[in-house]
Amino acid sequence: MNAVEVKKGIYWVGAIDWSLRNFHGYTTNRGVTYNAYLIIDEKIALIDTVKAQFAGELLERISKVIDPEKIDYIISNHVEMDHSGSIPKVMEVCKNAAIITSSPSGLKGLTAHYGQYNYKSVKANETLSLGKRTLKFVPTPMLHWPDNMVTYCPEEKILFSNDAFGQHYASSRRFDDEEQLEIILEEAKNYYGNIIMPYGKQVQGACEIICSLDIEMIAPSHGVIWRKNIQTIFDAYKLWSENNPQTGAIVVFDSMWHSTEVMAKTIVEAFADKSIPVKLYDLKVNHISEIIPEVLTSKYIAVGSPTLNNTMMPTVAAFLSYLKGLSPKNRKAFAFGSYGWGGQSIAQVEEELEKCGFDICLDKIRVQYIPSKQQLDEIRELVRNIE
Ligand code: FEO
Repeated sequence: MNAVEVKKGIYWVGAIDWSLRNFHGYTTNRGVTYNAYLIIDEKIALIDTVKAQFAGELLERISKVIDPEKIDYIISNHVEMDHSGSIPKVMEVCKNAAIITSSPSGLKGLTAHYGQYNYKSVKANETLSLGKRTLKFVPTPMLHWPDNMVTYCPEEKILFSNDAFGQHYASSRRFDDEEQLEIILEEAKNYYGNIIMPYGKQVQGACEIICSLDIEMIAPSHGVIWRKNIQTIFDAYKLWSENNPQTGAIVVFDSMWHSTEVMAKTIVEAFADKSIPVKLYDLKVNHISEIIPEVLTSKYIAVGSPTLNNTMMPTVAAFLSYLKGLSPKNRKAFAFGSYGWGGQSIAQVEEELEKCGFDICLDKIRVQYIPSKQQLDEIRELVRNIE
């Protein structure tokens, strides 16, 4: 387990979680990394740690560079346990290290998680000299926890951005230019949609500060390091954080005996007729978190459910609950579905879409039992006429 030198005297010493497929409910089909960085200067700093179960891997990598006991500072950019979980194990070895964290939320969070250590809390733009290098701490609250901060090293022009600009992507390679850009951007979009989407305004505020820094390398705490495509990922964050997609549609449904499915496919055809790029998601085969990146860049959201025991299908309820939590807003939406007698599900879906902050652009579309050709033609016409 070697450390990887990412700039002279600065090493990636993190961990690769090749097998993780579920990150608190978000499907991570390409695994995960927890990135930590070691800076060797007159004082030695470790930027973030890794998930607790990988503490041994972290310490082994550090040991390839220096004796971990020599670490003077542990910079905790974020309290969430995928980055702080190894602090107790690291502190068993680095007994004299100070833990740098944001004030007041980082201090409060770390103390609640791990008890008392030698914490030093820092305010906005405070700096710490390591000798030849300086670390500057920039708060990025709610990106995506209250405690988040990023650490900037002006002499090296590196931004240690923690969760921001990250991707859940396990790889033996460490840099963006060693991977296919389309894949890492896809995973960055996945990450933004499932983790950061509720905080677009905070992202815009943080990006304004971050973009004013002279940056040659962004070293996030997940996935690959950006050194070639920095402007590309900045532009992507700018677009996603605006949360105002101009086109694109998704049709999400579950079905019992194919009637809602037939309606869903008719709606897809109608969007395609309008030359709106559209994707169909059957909740029997698509995990809810896999749909979110398309929500991020879609103007229209159609959700369908048949009625099962007076309510919507559990898969549809789970999708809508997850979606509502991500607070997407600014989209046009409608509900559809088939039913046998009560037909309560379609109104329930519409109500949940309203709670997501969407503009209901079509009254709920309900079909009893099997949709006839005429009913399907009517649905097609309704969707074609959406503005
Ligand atoms: Fe990667 Fe918010 O932790």
